[in-house]
Amino acid sequence: MNPSDLYKKKLITIPEAVGKLQSHQTLGLAMAASEPPGLMAELGKHKDRLDDVSVWICLPLGSYDFVLDPEMEGHFFIENWFYGNADRKVHSQGRESYIPNNLHQAASCKLYAANNKVNVFFGTATPPDERGFLSLSLGLVIEKQLIEMADLVILEINENLPWTLGDTQVHISEVDYVVENHAPLAQLPPTLPTDAEEAIGGYIAELIEDGSTLQLGIGGIPNAITPFLMKRKDLGIHTEMFTDGMVDLYNAGVITNRRKTLWKGKMVGAFALGTQKLYDFVNNNLGVEFQQGSVTNDPYVIGKNYRMISINTALQVDVIGQVCSQSIGYRHFSGTGGQLDTHRGAQLSENGRGIIALRSTAKNGTVSTIVPILSEGAEITVPSQDVDTIVTEYGIADLKGLNVRDRAEALIRISHPDFRDQIREETQRFGIVPRFKGGR
Ligand code: COA
Repeated sequence: MNPSDLYKKKLITIPEAVGKLQSHQTLGLAMAASEPPGLMAELGKHKDRLDDVSVWICLPLGSYDFVLDPEMEGHFFIENWFYGNADRKVHSQGRESYIPNNLHQAASCKLYAANNKVNVFFGTATPPDERGFLSLSLGLVIEKQLIEMADLVILEINENLPWTLGDTQVHISEVDYVVENHAPLAQLPPTLPTDAEEAIGGYIAELIEDGSTLQLGIGGIPNAITPFLMKRKDLGIHTEMFTDGMVDLYNAGVITNRRKTLWKGKMVGAFALGTQKLYDFVNNNLGVEFQQGSVTNDPYVIGKNYRMISINTALQVDVIGQVCSQSIGYRHFSGTGGQLDTHRGAQLSENGRGIIALRSTAKNGTVSTIVPILSEGAEITVPSQDVDTIVTEYGIADLKGLNVRDRAEALIRISHPDFRDQIREETQRFGIVPRFKGGR
């Protein structure tokens, strides 16, 4: 059968597609900007015929009944390895639980967890080309692995999705059904940097030499540093997430990827999340290579890059150097994602550096993010033995190899001046550092 006829034969409606999901099954979903909004909006409408469906998910962006509506209790249970806004709202209701893992292992962990197979996969793709290939477009973190492992694969076809290159292609013959929904794409506009974020951007820029390869993470700070890199030359990108800031740096001639060790001449990443500017940029762009998250985030792959610099952000760092980026005390906030992967990978690279940058205070300056001990319940994202460089608007703390007393000194130096005495006093009182170098 020719590809176009095969496509037509597999085309069903969205209600028919969700109708194929059965009670007690596990449903895997494509993540972030590649989530299938039509299929996800339909899910909740099938609750009365579905019991005990486990939905495996990461960074969902939309607002969907199957997540938000308390009536879904007993019908859907959500297993999520990176929370979005909706997940934070419902976490306390007990219909959702977080899966701790590292991005490069996320899909394989699912495969190997006992009795935890993915029965059905819902994803998105572009319409097929004349040979029957579709592009998985904006997301390749776990999508291709889930397509390979699921018994039933249904893709939501959206002509607004860019055709991306690299390992993104699947053939229509590998897909069981398609539905069509040409919805506008989910966008994450960059926020305007605050004064503190600008100061942080300036410090980070000092640490980035010409010819470095960068990973920029999610959150306000990684975005804020782009303007400070405009004078650098021949930067490269090896990241998990492509962002709008990278497009600006490419268009300004700063990112050339010319001096990269791996995929020379190309930016490499696993998913794209930003605005239409980014989606237009990645469309059919031979300079942008999408690879699976198991590849982009494998620390040993990252470490092969020369002068690899990873830049991520955090919520709290204690004086020992333990980094919490995923919870506020007991309140689960996001996930590890690829933070530990990229932080470790950067340190495996020759002249590489793993940077965690954060504002020195939160909640309008009322709490210090540098603390003697992490808040009770805080989840550790980067352990102290892996931590490398911490940056705030007050400077840079190089922690690698330092003892705890010197780490505490270095971190107090970059904490907010209003909190320095208190952090020092408590650090001593708790016996973490009984006596600092300068006495007291
Ligand atoms: N104590 C209490 N609350 C704090 C806090 C602290 N120490 N630090 C931050 N907060 C609050 C903020 O006030 C804000 O609250 P609000 O939502 O009510 O406004 C919230 O936590 C988020 O803080 P913010 O600094 O705006 O977050 P962000 O959008 O810049 O994201 C992370 C920061 C750390 C949550 C995000 O980068 C993340 O999830 N990282 C882990 C994964 C990762 O880095 N992966 C690799 C790259 S893709």
